[in-house]
Amino acid sequence: MAVQISPSILAADFARLADEAAAVPNADWLHVDVMDYHFVPNLTLGLPVVEALRKATDTPLDCHLMIADPDRWAPQYAEAGAGSVTIHAEAAKAPVRTLREIRSLGARAGLALNPATAVEPYEDLLGEVDMLLLMTVEPGFGGQKFLDVVLPKVRRARELIGRHGGRVWLQVDGGVDAGTIERCAEAGADVFVAGSAVYGASDPVAAIDGLRAAANRAVS
Ligand code: DX5
Ligand code: ZN
Repeated sequence: MAVQISPSILAADFARLADEAAAVPNADWLHVDVMDYHFVPNLTLGLPVVEALRKATDTPLDCHLMIADPDRWAPQYAEAGAGSVTIHAEAAKAPVRTLREIRSLGARAGLALNPATAVEPYEDLLGEVDMLLLMTVEPGFGGQKFLDVVLPKVRRARELIGRHGGRVWLQVDGGVDAGTIERCAEAGADVFVAGSAVYGASDPVAAIDGLRAAANRAVS
């Protein structure tokens, strides 16, 4: 699996989202953090913004739903044209049904786990997902410090994925920057979300190139 970089627009200027999407032409995805003040103590954006962003950029949208009722809302993000829709295992009441619905609507289905959620109970669900997202901060805010404590889980997740054919992408999200991306790649992650490290940089394009090169170095 080639390294993929998904800049998080949480760290972008919300008043200029179309420009901010255009500012990262070398991104593989645009990571869109949807927060509802219930699953996490922060509120960001929802479907209308995703629909508008979809029309404003050709870069596929990687929607990360940090919301209390993903079973109800996730399919609508797929219908809105998101290329990938990720739900949290801690929030979903019917993850198998919801993941299947996301796929049936033509999007990639992702399952996210908080730092303290073990990956092993979800092994049997790997066939239902296209991407596993391991949070490397507690979800809710950008700019937090990377949690090294998650790295052993990244390794174990990579092993589980390997045992199931190696098809599932392994994403890390939170505190990923030039100082931490190599450890994540070495542990087995292949899709990297970066908010502050991209949109906080004076040259976002160069920041993405730098992150990609560092991740590739770590696995070569
Ligand atoms: C946190 C979000 C992340 C956030 C990452 O809950 O899921 O996507 O934007 O931001 P950085 O890269 O600044 O940690
Ligand atoms: Zn995110």
